[in-house]
Amino acid sequence: MKDLPKVELHLHLEGAAPPSFVRGLAAEKGHDLSGIFAEDGSYRYNGFLEFLKVYEAATEVLQTPEDFGRLTKEVLHRSAEHGVIYTEAFLSPDFCGGRDVGAWREYLAAIQEAAQDAKRDAGIEMRGIITCIRHFGPDKAKETARCAAETAGDFVTGFGMGGDEGKGRQGDFAYAFDMARESGLRLTTHAGEWGGPQSIRDALDDLRVERIGHGVRAIEDPALVDRLAEDGIVLEVCPGSNVSLGIYQWKSHPIAKLRDKGVPVTISTDDPPFFHTTMTGEYEHLSHVHDWDEGVFRDIARVAARAAFCDEATRTALL
Ligand code: ADE
Ligand code: ZN
Repeated sequence: MKDLPKVELHLHLEGAAPPSFVRGLAAEKGHDLSGIFAEDGSYRYNGFLEFLKVYEAATEVLQTPEDFGRLTKEVLHRSAEHGVIYTEAFLSPDFCGGRDVGAWREYLAAIQEAAQDAKRDAGIEMRGIITCIRHFGPDKAKETARCAAETAGDFVTGFGMGGDEGKGRQGDFAYAFDMARESGLRLTTHAGEWGGPQSIRDALDDLRVERIGHGVRAIEDPALVDRLAEDGIVLEVCPGSNVSLGIYQWKSHPIAKLRDKGVPVTISTDDPPFFHTTMTGEYEHLSHVHDWDEGVFRDIARVAARAAFCDEATRTALL
């Protein structure tokens, strides 16, 4: 499973920071972050909202463009070890200079340079999806969209939204998504992870996204499942994340049912060290629970490659 070529569409850059990396930076900078770690050294949180708090606390040690460059290198090399040949990482101007466009450009340059090095040294390709954070509200999302619009191009190819799906409605963020769309960026948003089917419908109707982050709770609404299948709306499914956060168990996870009904599903890790997962781990669990063989995983990787927010030549090379 480890060597199978994998295409990952849903990975939060800060959320992929290994605890050892964060502890190392904290020591260098004299930060006391001991409260966010359990005795075994892993991140410690209880439930989704505490996860978001610990996640944001961990980002406090990521202060300079150089820190983000080092993080990008670490994350991409780890992904490549698990056979990932292409990854789309959510990048957050909120944590990179507080949504100031000038500062953001410097962070982005460091991330992009590290991505180029990783392509040369580990053979992994990366694109950035700029992400606003839902619980920070629509005004900050507009500033984030401005950062995204100003840096849209070959590397920054998408715009999205993560954070607490319980806060506000998808449509509150329409201005930010419209701005991103007008600058040529492709769109996705977290929906149907904590929110039910209506959150997914709102994402499609009010934000006009072409992919959905998670989307798994569509399974509660057969008409919505049909719509996703008919319209070819790709779901960035992160089973290990859902299991770790207590939304499903491996056996009850709907990824196989959605796929059987014709919904284009893909597989990602979301925030791997927080959820004790890797792409290989995701594949192994799914192969065990659903009896999926290599052919299924190759097919899913092709679905992901076709849905990737990159240029045609890069996409074709992945297939
Ligand atoms: N940000 C990082 N991981 C997330 C998740 N699983 N859901 C929403 N926002 C996130
Ligand atoms: Zn996510």
